[in-house]
Amino acid sequence: MRPPPRMVPSQVSPRTTTGRTRTGRTMGTLLVLLAACRAEGGRPLLTWERMQDQPKYLPYGESRFFPDGMAMRAPPDGTVPRDAIVGRPLLTEGGDSTGVAMRIPLPLTPELLARGRDRFDIFCATCHGVAGDGESVVARKMQARKPPSLVQARVRALPAGTLYRVATEGWGLMPGYGPDLSVTDRWAVVAYVRALQLRHVAPGDSLARGSGSALPTGRRG
Ligand code: HEC
Repeated sequence: MRPPPRMVPSQVSPRTTTGRTRTGRTMGTLLVLLAACRAEGGRPLLTWERMQDQPKYLPYGESRFFPDGMAMRAPPDGTVPRDAIVGRPLLTEGGDSTGVAMRIPLPLTPELLARGRDRFDIFCATCHGVAGDGESVVARKMQARKPPSLVQARVRALPAGTLYRVATEGWGLMPGYGPDLSVTDRWAVVAYVRALQLRHVAPGDSLARGSGSALPTGRRG
C-alpha cells in the first residue's frame, strides 16, 4: 500500500489575501475564546460535558424557586396519563378484570371490515401475507422466527381479545401497532383477520353470499 500523501498547509487551508492561513486565524480566535472562558480560579468553564453539567432539577429534588419547595410539579387538572385505561377496558384493552374479550366488542359492519382490510394490508400483510397465511417476502427472507400464518387452526382458536392485544403490544419478535392504529382500527383488523380465517376454512365465494353473519360479534361470552 502506498502511504497517504503528506498534507502541506497550502493543501488544507488556502492562503487568504493577507497571507495568513485560515486555520491560523481560526486557532487564534479559539484561543482567545478559551481564555475568556477561564474562571478566576483558573478552572476552565468550557467543558464538553456542559449539557450534562448544566444546572437542573432532578426528580424528587428540592427547589428554592417554587413556593412548595419541590422541584416536581403536579400535572394540570384533567391530564390523562399515557398508559391510563380509559373508557371500557373490554374495548380499549381487549379484556377486563374477568378476562380476555372472547368476541369483537363492536358491531360488525361492511365499513368496519373494509377499514380492517385497508389497515391489515398496510400494517400486517407485509409480514403475514395479504391472505394472512404467512406467505410474504419478509417471511421468505426472515432468518429468525418467521411471521406465522394467522389462518392456522391454533390462531383461529385464539380469542378476539388476544388478537387485539397482539396487534396492540406485539408478540415476541413482532412489534406492537398500538401507537399506529386507533382502538377501532385494531378491532377492524381483528375482524378482517377473522374474515380471512373464515375464507381459509370456507373457500370460494361463500363469504360473499352472506355467511359473514358467522363472524363472532357482540359482547364477550
Ligand atoms: C414486521 C413483521 C410483522 C408485522 C408487520 C406484523 N407481525 Fe404479527 N407476527 C410477526 C412475527 C415474527 C410473529 C411471531 C413472533 C414470535 O413468535 O416471536 C408474529 C405473531 C403474530 C401473532 C401471534 C400468532 C401466534 O402464532 O400466536 C398474531 C395474532 C399476529 N402476529 C398478528 C398481527 C397483526 C394483526 C398485525 C398487524 C397489525 C401484525 N401481526 C403485524 C411479525 C409481524
